Amino acid sequence: MRAWRRIRVFGAVVGVVGLSGLIGAGCSMFQNEQSAKGKKLYAHYCMHCHGETGKQNEGFNWSSMTDPKPKDLSNKSEMGTFKDEDIFATISRDMKDTSPNGDKIGDDEFAVPTMPTFKYTLSEEEIWGIVGYVRSLHGKKLEFNVEGRKKELQEAKQSAEQKYTEAERVEQEAEKKASDEADKKGVEVDDNAYAKEVQAMGQAKKELDQATAALANFTTRPGKGLNIARPDLSMKPDAAAKMTEIGKQLYVTKYGCNGCHKIGEEGGKVGPALDRAGYRLNPTWVYRWLRNPQAMKPDTRMPALGLNDADAKAVALYLKTLRAPKPDKPLGKVGEE
Ligand code: HEC
Ligand code: HEC
Repeated sequence: MRAWRRIRVFGAVVGVVGLSGLIGAGCSMFQNEQSAKGKKLYAHYCMHCHGETGKQNEGFNWSSMTDPKPKDLSNKSEMGTFKDEDIFATISRDMKDTSPNGDKIGDDEFAVPTMPTFKYTLSEEEIWGIVGYVRSLHGKKLEFNVEGRKKELQEAKQSAEQKYTEAERVEQEAEKKASDEADKKGVEVDDNAYAKEVQAMGQAKKELDQATAALANFTTRPGKGLNIARPDLSMKPDAAAKMTEIGKQLYVTKYGCNGCHKIGEEGGKVGPALDRAGYRLNPTWVYRWLRNPQAMKPDTRMPALGLNDADAKAVALYLKTLRAPKPDKPLGKVGEE
């Protein structure tokens, strides 16, 4: 088994004076609002596994999961060793393939497949709200300054806008000068004469785009307005067979789908059993659902796990092979053919 659980290498945890004592009424009002939101999001996305107060075996899905079981978030001596940023990074990471031929995973990296990521489901601001709520479960307070971070990103965007406007002005001036000179001499405009300004403008535009994206990631859910195109699933039978095998592996080793879905006797019960997915669901629908469930059903509890095109195809093809006999009870209805 690979070392895909985080090996903790923290030194002494540096004590930081709690911000709560230092901030004014406006800020703590903001904090209250923030933690109320965090509590609601936790109830929607985390409670089935971690329980209402974070304790082991409290969430209805806890006992159905394989080891490692969802972490006890109320355990202060363990959770207290994490910085706010560590908890944020766990909730907002990229999933890694933990199989022996999978991704490279650092010793200090958290990569348990059955702990989903929420990076592709929630805004960073929402994730910070959840981190704040998780802190309260083990009697600590969020020290990270969320409002400060947002201001910083807003200011960075404003400043990038100003720089871009200025670079544009300088470029236009240089271009006009080159053009006037060419007119005077009666020759073609020399593009090289203002190439430096064009380049600087391009660079300023790139920085503005980055600052805009950083602020958007902070304030907006990633799936908002996303439209997933229909996939081309046509391929030769041997390629399809290979993809299906890959999908079967990724289902467990990278995306931990088994943490929430049952196949046969194995797996969690947050989502419907997938034993009969091959009969009930068509691969095109499954592909689009896996790429981004929120694009199809904004409030679904299933997080978007960041499946790229190839992974979504592979897992969709694998689900197509699941054709167990009919059970006694009817199953769920999402996306039924
Ligand atoms: C499908 C079940 C499941 C869901 C849903 C889930 N978790 Fe987890 N969580 C786990 C498992 C499994 C672990 C790994 C425990 C371990 O490594 O011992 C874990 C670990 C953690 C850890 C500890 C990470 C570390 O570095 O050791 C934190 C913090 C956490 N989860 C927070 C959350 C939050 C917040 C949410 C909701 C946004 C959430 N989890 C949703 C199953 C889940
Ligand atoms: C945190 C739990 C969770 C994880 C992880 C998860 N799912 Fe889901 N899944 C759900 C829930 C809940 C639903 C029901 C969605 C709804 O109706 O909003 C669902 C629905 C589905 C459906 C539609 C099922 C039907 O019968 O209509 C499919 C297919 C599916 N998931 C596949 C997967 C696959 C494949 C993965 C891994 C890549 C995965 N899920 C990971 C919770 C999860």
